[in-house]
Amino acid sequence: MSTTPERGRVSVPAVASSKVRSGSDPLVMVTAYDAPGARMVSESGADMILVGDSLAMVVLGYDDTLSVTVDDIAHHTAAVGRAKPDCLVVADLPWLSYHTSTADTVRNAAVLIRAGAQAVKLEGGAKRVPMISALIDAEIPVVGHLGLTPQSVHAMGGFRVQAKSDEAARTLIADARAVQDAGCFAVVLEGVPSEIAGVVTDALDIPTIGIGAGAHCDGQVLVFHDVLGIEDRLAPKFVRRYGAIHADSVAALTAFGADVRSGSFPDESESYHLNSAVAESLGLYGRAVGATASPG
Ligand code: KIV
Repeated sequence: MSTTPERGRVSVPAVASSKVRSGSDPLVMVTAYDAPGARMVSESGADMILVGDSLAMVVLGYDDTLSVTVDDIAHHTAAVGRAKPDCLVVADLPWLSYHTSTADTVRNAAVLIRAGAQAVKLEGGAKRVPMISALIDAEIPVVGHLGLTPQSVHAMGGFRVQAKSDEAARTLIADARAVQDAGCFAVVLEGVPSEIAGVVTDALDIPTIGIGAGAHCDGQVLVFHDVLGIEDRLAPKFVRRYGAIHADSVAALTAFGADVRSGSFPDESESYHLNSAVAESLGLYGRAVGATASPG
């Protein structure tokens, strides 16, 4: 999509019509969970910010995404919103916020919209059609999420590449059509063979946004912490790192500790001082209170 500095906020219709086969640039989506992160993603010219439930794993320290709640996502969506990014802000509906009823789905999505999102994302295919329809009825734009759906980690038996068999690939393609027909304006394809992502991308009129789904999508999404190398743990092979923030941060913090221990931090320029009259009245001339407090 557009990367001009004065583009204004990216809209749902602009994303919905971004098909590479129609000449659009590939969509760029990055996760963010707080105001500084949102400002960085926005300044980079990305089209969309996803306040993902990956929050659970990359910020809150859980082993999977199942522990985050609507309130957690809302809290972080509000922080992202306060940064006023130019990107379209999509917030994840967390596990169990859209599984019990259409009424719960709409109520929970409304919390995220009121927190600052312009759209929500949910995982699953044909079985989610009633929930997607209810959200569309409530004027809430929806992004689908198919393939490796992390909220199904136990049902999948781990974070595994999906749609590898003939039958599973056909189910994925049918699910993609179902969520499009229900009204989703884009769909994330995660952890699927590149060939299948290409077939889905060709089959749909809405854009596909891949993560671990190869190059044949209408856009790509990565997790902020993965792009920047905020953790230095081994990443999945689909992650390309563009920074080494973990190593840079440890080096900076180590230097700070060394300066504190050696007494070189803070120096005079990093300290506040009394004016000379107050220093004199307090009898502090004997102390190194800096230029403004020294006797005239
Ligand atoms: O929660 C998340 O970050 C996501 C992306 C991996 C697509 O859903």
